[in-house]
Amino acid sequence: MENAVPRDVLVVHGGAPLQGQIRVRGAKNLISKAMVAAVLGDSPSRLYDVPGIRDVEVVTGLLELHGVRVSKGATDGELIFDPANVEAANVDEINVHAGSSRIPILFCGPLLHRLGHAFIPDLGGCNIGGRPIDFHIQSLREFGAVVDKGEKGMEISAPNGLHGAKLQLPYPSVGATEQILLTAVRAEGVTELRNAAVEPEIIDLICVLQKMGAIIKVHTDRVIEIQGVSSLSGYSHRPIPDRIEAASWAAAALATHGDVFVRGARQADMMTFLNTYTSVGGAFEIDDTPGHGGIRFWHPGGELKAVALETDVHPGFMTDWQQPMVVALTQARGLSIVHETVYESRLGYTAALNQMGATIQTYRECLGGTPCRFGRRNFMHSAVIAGPSKLHAADLVIPDLRAGFSHLIAALAAEGTSRVYGINLIHRGYEDFEAKLAALGANAEMGS
Ligand code: EPU
Repeated sequence: MENAVPRDVLVVHGGAPLQGQIRVRGAKNLISKAMVAAVLGDSPSRLYDVPGIRDVEVVTGLLELHGVRVSKGATDGELIFDPANVEAANVDEINVHAGSSRIPILFCGPLLHRLGHAFIPDLGGCNIGGRPIDFHIQSLREFGAVVDKGEKGMEISAPNGLHGAKLQLPYPSVGATEQILLTAVRAEGVTELRNAAVEPEIIDLICVLQKMGAIIKVHTDRVIEIQGVSSLSGYSHRPIPDRIEAASWAAAALATHGDVFVRGARQADMMTFLNTYTSVGGAFEIDDTPGHGGIRFWHPGGELKAVALETDVHPGFMTDWQQPMVVALTQARGLSIVHETVYESRLGYTAALNQMGATIQTYRECLGGTPCRFGRRNFMHSAVIAGPSKLHAADLVIPDLRAGFSHLIAALAAEGTSRVYGINLIHRGYEDFEAKLAALGANAEMGS
């Protein structure tokens, strides 16, 4: 069954420019964390502008398993979380709900504070204690938590409560920084975190926690200081817009010679992306009308230009912007260089683009930038894209969320009819994307 072709397929008749207007809502990568933060409160929390995406359903399921009542508010996209009856969840049920999601790890701090113990299922094939959550586990231990490997996952307890700690992350991990914030806010004493991630989604999570009564100082040079408090209340919050989705549509506009107004997109969170967009030859215009603003992205005609870009932690070029932008770079004249420094293996999707006529070669070396931690470890993490290439239709299977959206952009840009299998994966992070495609004039329909 492992290699079975998924049955959900989008049939895309490509080659036409995307034109029109779509809206992005609250950022997926803030919303899931803000939902977990609600567990820390003594009263209900309220989140606005939540998109209807599968990741929100997964976290809603996890919250409900832990006794949090989740209900819809009066406005579209408003959710209310009532943590009055937080309780331990059934271990098997957590596994069923979480799938390969990494969100269960972030429940540790809140559950330790509320119940004195927590459980993390083995996640997505990687064994706990392995590299992907080592920073999380190490930090929890420094707070005084006891972490034991159980049969189905990690059992975590805090027999003597949690206390502040002096921590330094080996790499500014987004998830580990969130873990530390969600744990330190109610730990006894002061926590000092060095080499913290400072992505806009992290700063927005800090805003959420401050509304709840937390005391958090963000110093220069990636240092965050958290003064623990004994209780927190609920929050009411409107999240920052989803800058990954906004950039995905922007790249789609460029790759298809289109013109897309992304309502809700915000310049401040996308400056690095906008610089690259301009360098490649794309055009944008900011509309900052209160309540109706956004960014218009379009292909101004003429040839796109090759660029060298390197993904990095904020304020660098986001790793999640990389895949959609590479599709646009297949249309640029010359050799573009991409150096992926956040994830060791985020270029596998380029094989599908080559199948469609692109010329992309991947390398183990750190190309076009500063050496990164993957250079000497045999990871294919650099790419050279030779363009422009005429893309043609193909049958594609979506490997993951961001690579999947890139496949979709490539299918929209290519001449002919492509079949994109496993399309439901896109619903994890992109709300209503079939309706958005239709609003932009794309010729695509669900097939079987
Ligand atoms: N890392 C470790 N050990 C750890 C934690 C991280 O070695 O304990 C490494 C990772 O393997 C990776 C690097 O640190 O090489 C960065 O990982 P990070 O922890 O920053 O990523 P994350 O928190 O797991 C979030 C987003 C990702 C986004 C990254 C980077 C969510 C739910 N996910 O992941 O978004 O790419 O930050 O900005 O917030 C997506 O939305 O599709 C997505 C993958």
